[in-house]
This record gives sequence, structure tokens and C-alpha cells, in this order.
Amino acid sequence: MCKDTGYIIIPNENSQPTFKQCECLKKEIVKRQWNNSGINIETATQTFNTFKAWNDSSKVAKETAIEYFQNFKKIRKNKQNSIMLCGQVGSGKTHLSIALAINFMKKGYKVVYMPYRDVITKVKQNMTDEEYYKKTISKYQVAEILLIDDLYKGKINESDINIMFEIINYRYLNRLPIIVSSEFVMERMLNFDEGIGSRIYQMCKDYIIEIEGKENNYRLK
Ligand SMILES: Nc1ncnc2c1ncn2[C@@H]1O[C@H](COP(=O)(O)OP(=O)(O)OP(=O)(O)O)[C@@H](O)[C@H]1O
Ligand SMILES: [Mg+2]
Ligand SMILES: [Zn+2]
Repeated sequence: MCKDTGYIIIPNENSQPTFKQCECLKKEIVKRQWNNSGINIETATQTFNTFKAWNDSSKVAKETAIEYFQNFKKIRKNKQNSIMLCGQVGSGKTHLSIALAINFMKKGYKVVYMPYRDVITKVKQNMTDEEYYKKTISKYQVAEILLIDDLYKGKINESDINIMFEIINYRYLNRLPIIVSSEFVMERMLNFDEGIGSRIYQMCKDYIIEIEGKENNYRLK
């Protein structure tokens, strides 16, 4: 449609034509953002194939993630259209989240990666730059699918909560899906901040993967 220019020309009767980003350029931009976060989506090794169902919980986790992927088209517009992977460090939460992202992007969905801690730190450092703030927050608010990796990692204060609320509440109201990985199990997340927690719960409640127990740390295997 764009003849490989990235832009589609929209003619205007009486004035200059306007330009709109082509779908192919939008996809390219999303890919570039992944690269900037240090993940090459084309060569990433975190796939479903490489995720071993080596014990009961990894088996359930893998099955649930695949089921979510297979049902996605059907549930996408529902209130419950999201997935949460939570609990034990090293249990493969990020691995499965990225596997989902790879598969969604192969299907043409634009998945935006949000490494929670890096993003929050940077946003707070630039708090006085209103334009940067708005631009960054809106990128995560409107993404077709948003992957929030390691939600609530590190020390959390009032402004972290406010930033996350802005993002989650927007997505909640507009039924935009999230893939969340976090060390916090659902109950802790609810106790921690009920406003955000209960919204995440409602969005993810059909696909909550909770992994508990050190024996599930693949890194220590
Ligand atoms: N079932 C599995 N099969 C193959 N590799 C796995 C499996 N689970 C985890 N891994 C690998 O172990 C490492 C740790 O996994 P990952 O980073 O996904 O864990 P995590 O749950 O996100 O941990 P953290 O809470 O520290 O972020 C990665 O290299 C991942 O590819
Ligand atoms: Mg992780
Ligand atoms: Zn194009």
C-alpha cells in the first residue's frame, strides 16, 4: 500500500496531501523498540518450543500460555482478555511472556514491551519533561498488546503507583490486553494496591499462572 515508503498519501481536494504511517512502518517501529530493549524478536530463544514442561507447574504454565494464545482472537474484545504469570523467580515467566509476544507478532499484532523497572526509573527521571511523560505513558496506554515485564520489581512509592494506574486504568477501560509477569502473586498484588490489582485481576482472571516454590527456579536446576 505504501510502495515500501512507509507512508500512505491521503489526497486532499483543496490543499496539500497528508501522510499517514503504513501498517508496515508501524510494525517496523515496534520491532525497533524491542531491539532497543535488547531483545531481537526474530532470533529470540524464548519460544514455546524451547520451554520445557519439566515438572507439573511448568507444564501447567506452558499449557495455559498456549491456550491463551489460541483463544486470543475469540476473547480479545472481552473484559477478560489478558494473562498474568506470577510468583517464583526464575520459573520462566519472562520466557513464556516473550514466547507469547513472538507468536502474536508473527500473527501481525503489535506487542509493545515494557520492562517495568527501566521504564519507571526513566519516566521518574524525566518527570518535569511533560512532553516526554505524556508520550511515554501514551505509548503503553494505547499499545495493541502490552507486555509488562517484572511489574513492581524494586522499591515502590506513590509515584510508581500513579504511573501504573494511568496505564492500567486506560487499558482496563478500553479493553486492551496485557501480558503481565511479576514476582508478586495475585493476593499480594491486591493487598499492595487494590485499585491496580483488582483491575489486573479482572482482566487476567481466566489466565492466571501462579508458580510458587524454590524448586521451580529453572536457573537453580
Ligand atoms: N521450563 C523451561 N524450559 C526451558 N528454559 C527455561 C524454563 N523455565 C525457565 N527457563 C530459562 O531459565 C531462565 C530464567 O527464566 P525467566 O527469566 O523466564 O524467569 P522469570 O520467572 O522471568 O524470573 P524473574 O522473576 O527473575 O524475572 C531463562 O534463561 C529461561 O529461558
Ligand atoms: Mg522475568
Ligand atoms: Zn507499507
